[in-house]
Amino acid sequence: MDLDLKSWRNVQDPFPLYAWLRDHDPVHWSKPLNAWVITRYADVVRVFDRPETFASDRFRKIDERYASRRPAVQAVAEVLGHWLVFRDPPDHDRLRGLLQSSFTPKQLESSREWVQTTVDTLLDRVVARGTMDFISELAFPLPATVIAGLMGVPETDLVRIKAWSDRLAAYLGGAVDERDNFVEASAGVAALVDYFHALLRERERGPQDDLMNLMLRAEHGGEHLTRDEVVANCVLLLFAGHETTTNLLGNGLFHLLRHPAQAALLQAYPELLHGAVEELLRYDGPVPATVKIATDDIPWHGRTIARGDMVIPCLASANRDPRQFPDPDTLDVRRQPERHLAFAAGMHFCLGAWLARLEARIVLGTLFRRLPSLALGPAQPRWKPMLFLRGLESLPLVWASDERSEP
Ligand code: HEM
Repeated sequence: MDLDLKSWRNVQDPFPLYAWLRDHDPVHWSKPLNAWVITRYADVVRVFDRPETFASDRFRKIDERYASRRPAVQAVAEVLGHWLVFRDPPDHDRLRGLLQSSFTPKQLESSREWVQTTVDTLLDRVVARGTMDFISELAFPLPATVIAGLMGVPETDLVRIKAWSDRLAAYLGGAVDERDNFVEASAGVAALVDYFHALLRERERGPQDDLMNLMLRAEHGGEHLTRDEVVANCVLLLFAGHETTTNLLGNGLFHLLRHPAQAALLQAYPELLHGAVEELLRYDGPVPATVKIATDDIPWHGRTIARGDMVIPCLASANRDPRQFPDPDTLDVRRQPERHLAFAAGMHFCLGAWLARLEARIVLGTLFRRLPSLALGPAQPRWKPMLFLRGLESLPLVWASDERSEP
């Protein structure tokens, strides 16, 4: 068994390695990653349930072994250190309270129609062609347009934002190619921070009714977000709002089309869509793993995690653990896997889960309705070389270009 999670084969298909680790070494020391890898469902839940032992603030709590004084690392830490997802209590709870009040399903409910219109417009552009690259022509532009619209970012800026955000993704996604992830990330972060500071100044001159403005005005227990917190968390929402959802759409559609009987079920019974999206999240979600820091020495399954060590709870492995999900390697859109961990669990449970699910249901429902002959193109898609974000580089699709395809 090749135990290197960074090897090309394991990045393309990590599931055999996860299965081996769950059975033989559930708390595994990975030398290439310099971290402990946790693979069983119950253990991953335990990591999320004990934030005081498994901290999220990788920028302040991380041991000297991992920290570095390089300017690029400092520059990234300064901004990402304000991100909700990298804070621990009590700061996490204060920030979450403030952000949550601007990000409720009720506030987002109005986006339903607009998401549908955006999907139809994107499909109208390609439908007569009978072919498209699903990633670049739908799975990227849809969530990017939606989150940009919610935040009051002009759509015309999306191309340069995408370029900055891709550089940040090299670091956050744990790129395993030759790039220097910190140099990449600091360049992307600096550009995004400048961009949002400028937008914030505009907002203060002429307030608009969008998420950025709600964040500026948000109040929770008499507290407000600072300007730096608003800007940093705008970068977080923008990043989290598109990168992951693009991959949910891409991974989900890819697996459905590889399992034509499952796709046919959805076509025949659109009411299965709700559960199908959960099953696709479980089967091959966009965030396979994340990083926590041990705040104590922890004996576990015969190993001892030392205070300051990096710990990697593997969501993708937990979601394929047969101890939790019977026959876990089978994709079954009727399964309804309610306690999957694709959005994590506990206090860091994804704030955007509602929006991501909405977009996925609308996209899949619309595709199967408008393009019933939809199928994978001939090329074999490749997975991006990343550890913490899982998505396809491209996804060529084909369909009969003369089929009835009105919205
Ligand atoms: C399918 C798409 C998505 C997946 C799989 C996903 C997954 C996750 C995961 C696993 C976490 C916890 C990370 C950790 O503890 O280290 C998280 C947190 C978070 N996500 Fe998502 N996410 C998705 C979409 C979104 C969207 C669309 C947004 C916003 C528009 C968003 C905003 C956030 C935020 C703000 C947090 C931090 C919550 C906290 O720390 O309290 N996510 N997400």
